[in-house]
Amino acid sequence: MKIWMNGMLVDAEDAKIHLLTHALHYATGIFEGIRCYDSGTGNGAFIFRLHDHIKRFFSSAKIYLMDLRYGFDEMIDAVIETVKVNGLRSCYIRPIAYYSYGKMGVNPLPNRVDVAIAIWQWDEYLSSEQGIRCMVSSWRRIDARTMPVGAKATANYANSALARIEALKNGFDEAIMLNINGMVAEASAENVFIVRDGVICTPPTTDGALAGITRDTVLQIAKHEGIMYEVRSISRDELYLADEVFLTGTAAGIKPVVMIDNRKVGDGNVGVITKRLKSMYEDVVRGRDERFIKWLTYVEMYS
Ligand SMILES: Cc1ncc(COP(=O)(O)O)c(C=O)c1O
Repeated sequence: MKIWMNGMLVDAEDAKIHLLTHALHYATGIFEGIRCYDSGTGNGAFIFRLHDHIKRFFSSAKIYLMDLRYGFDEMIDAVIETVKVNGLRSCYIRPIAYYSYGKMGVNPLPNRVDVAIAIWQWDEYLSSEQGIRCMVSSWRRIDARTMPVGAKATANYANSALARIEALKNGFDEAIMLNINGMVAEASAENVFIVRDGVICTPPTTDGALAGITRDTVLQIAKHEGIMYEVRSISRDELYLADEVFLTGTAAGIKPVVMIDNRKVGDGNVGVITKRLKSMYEDVVRGRDERFIKWLTYVEMYS
């Protein structure tokens, strides 16, 4: 496996970092999660919404005052090259930028910013076709007054990890986090949608949700399909009373939720609208829906 590291493709075993890397100690890193799907045409693959992911990567870097040293197009080319050279048609892509080794202490600015791209096969995250069981976490989602929640920053994931650990230790599959005002923010690594009376709803980013690219994809599919949708605050009791609930994320795709805090969602089965959106999403990411071909970057493997 090759990893792209500061402009060079190196063997994974050689992609090493110093123990005193700033980001390891002070969580001063930002990253992206992108998926590449087998195009089903032999040697090709589609990277889904690559430009949107790289745009968010640069936005996260801006918030953390990072000079990425590589331009937008260079990052796009680097992602494509990493996929091609590894020949993985179906994979998860992880660009990461972090304050590197140089000067210890909380201030990251004296340190160089290193940039890397790793890929791996990651078939199912939160696997379950029958739907997953969630708990409302006792951990509140980080608040905009504490951390910039709009950045996909490594630091934010300590909050996510605590929530995820709590959910797993309590026998659930995933955590849904409320914001400090008690409204639904997001899951540990996915956005949350509820369906009520045929309308799909998801919280606004100002309630603590990451501007998820899968979330946006679902909203745009809904728009094209004439499915009613709302971006509005969602309370905890609405989670319990929803007809359907699903999570969205690049790693997880669209995940139906069938139980929350031991209460069945709807009748406890995967809902009709969730099923429909999930199947449409699968078509969109694999290039089977002409209307959304613009979101795909075709990659032809070397071998
Ligand atoms: C905290 C959090 N919220 C939401 C998402 C979903 O974002 P996206 O659909 O862009 O993967 C992710 C995954 O990246 C995440 O980590």
